[in-house]
Amino acid sequence: MNNYQPTSHTMQDGAVVNGLAARSDREATERKEALVAQAGMEAVVEIRDLTKTYKLGQTKVRALRGVSLAVQRGEFVAIMGPSGSGKSTLMNLVGCLDRPTSGEYRLTGKTVSKMPADELADIRNQQIGFVFQGFNLLTRATALKNVVLPLMYAGLSGQEQLRRARKMLQLVGLGARMNHKPAELSGGQQQRVAIARALVNNPALLLADEPTGNLDSRTSLEVMVVLQALNQRGLTILLVTHDADIAAFTKRQVVFRDGRIVRDEVVAAPRLAEVDWLATRQSTRIQHVAHVQADSARESEAESQ
Ligand SMILES: Nc1ncnc2c1ncn2[C@@H]1O[C@H](COP(=O)(O)OP(=O)(O)OP(=O)(O)O)[C@@H](O)[C@H]1O
Ligand SMILES: [Mg+2]
Repeated sequence: MNNYQPTSHTMQDGAVVNGLAARSDREATERKEALVAQAGMEAVVEIRDLTKTYKLGQTKVRALRGVSLAVQRGEFVAIMGPSGSGKSTLMNLVGCLDRPTSGEYRLTGKTVSKMPADELADIRNQQIGFVFQGFNLLTRATALKNVVLPLMYAGLSGQEQLRRARKMLQLVGLGARMNHKPAELSGGQQQRVAIARALVNNPALLLADEPTGNLDSRTSLEVMVVLQALNQRGLTILLVTHDADIAAFTKRQVVFRDGRIVRDEVVAAPRLAEVDWLATRQSTRIQHVAHVQADSARESEAESQ
């Protein structure tokens, strides 16, 4: 049986791996593993023919209808598509928050699709970081405390927990805001605390479902600068977004429609969030200078009258 689903993923090495036309599953797997090893690639996510059907009383909602997807270490993938197309359902499955109705899912080489719930929870805690649209921070705790929380069960000393949390906050550019509570931070800063919290356990994969959904465009840029920098350091990221401008900062775009992947393309030249962010700073400065000039012109006009 030739069950291996080639995808239209066009990344150079990926095309070789994903485009295999194999005579048997086993042969396909062996050839793929050999090629992956040869290319020095490592699959973080491997999904084959995944389906998810929700039952609501008598009705069945087929949220995913046979999805195959491979994500290699170091990729930055935008998951796009209209509302209800199955994006969050996919993220829940990839994030081990839920189990598929059928199909196979391997996370960093381990088959997780049939794992019992307790093992799934362990895998989730060790391997996955989540960031959501609402930042879900503890409002009464400082940024540092919020980031320390996931480490409390990791069997580390209190000092080591604080050291790691501080390092992570520095990495997302919040070294000077560690003792602020969420209400004392901007939206972008709050989301960066949430990113630090998601990554403090050193997961293999960051899943972000509309992380900029609640933010204005300039603050969204601030979050994308951080995500691009983390990806540059090797972090694998899957990011759900409705916004083509946000997807332009990623390296690959996977588009869903009615529970299926309808497009899977490499972004030839991802935009650099930092460049765009600096440009907004520049234009804010130019606007500011223009305001000051207009004000002083008005003042001198008033004085001469
Ligand atoms: N827990 C659930 N029970 C029943 N149906 C569900 C459940 N979760 C999602 N669905 C349905 O599954 C389909 C896919 O939903 P999903 O949340 O994955 O869409 P989405 O692409 O994330 O949409 P959005 O962009 O609006 O967030 C939708 O038709 C939705 O109504
Ligand atoms: Mg959703």
